[in-house]
Amino acid sequence: MAGFLIRKAKMEDVRPIHALLNFFAERRELLPRSLSEIYENLQQFFVATKNGKVVGCVALYVTWDNLAEVKALAVASEFQGKGLGKRLLKTTIKEAKKLGVKTLFALTIRERLFEKFGFVRKKKSFLPHKVWTECVRCPYFPEACIETSLTLELGSKKKKNKLDSFTESFMSTSEPMVPAEPAKETSWPPPPPPNKN
Ligand SMILES: CC(C)(COP(=O)(O)OP(=O)(O)OC[C@H]1O[C@@H](n2cnc3c(N)ncnc32)[C@H](O)[C@@H]1OP(=O)(O)O)[C@@H](O)C(=O)NCCC(=O)NCCS
Repeated sequence: MAGFLIRKAKMEDVRPIHALLNFFAERRELLPRSLSEIYENLQQFFVATKNGKVVGCVALYVTWDNLAEVKALAVASEFQGKGLGKRLLKTTIKEAKKLGVKTLFALTIRERLFEKFGFVRKKKSFLPHKVWTECVRCPYFPEACIETSLTLELGSKKKKNKLDSFTESFMSTSEPMVPAEPAKETSWPPPPPPNKN
């Protein structure tokens, strides 16, 4: 695996990403992506490079509250089988965790690769409606869908450490920091001051 670098994508990577994705799209292994779509979503892409040349890519799209999708995972044919796909996927999972994503999902024909990272198969009906806007672009839609949908739960139950327990007990015993709202509604403008005469 020496000599490969995984990093966030930059402007200069757009055309190589486009060429890589559309190479597999022509073989019906991935959805085609236009240059404008890649430009618009460049911040969501990671690339794998060797000697400065893009040899792999992946994208992480946040799609909904707590939900994100792994998309456009590809490794150039001559570099496949060297663990790059796994490294790209691992990078995406790490990034999703950093963002606070709770559930990650993917629609893929390479389910075994995803299962290695703990993804489990889920019915497509689970996925948000927005996903289907992508599906209608697929040559296999709707009768012959060949993709499996998988999800990975990232919101793991954190073990309580001493500090957490302290914070919890503090929160439950101390006075609220914001004073309670007055029970009675006040009218506006306020009534005139009482006449002292
Ligand atoms: C899927 C893809 C990204 C994997 O990249 P890669 O660098 O070859 O993957 P790795 O070397 O990290 O291998 C990861 C695992 O995936 C599996 N795998 C890799 N290529 C595979 C293939 N063609 N078919 C089935 N499983 C495959 C292997 O089980 C491997 O695990 P192992 O090494 O423990 O046996 C690459 O084959 C590719 O670009 N394919 C075309 C586009 C595509 O299908 N993308 C996935 C859509 S989400």
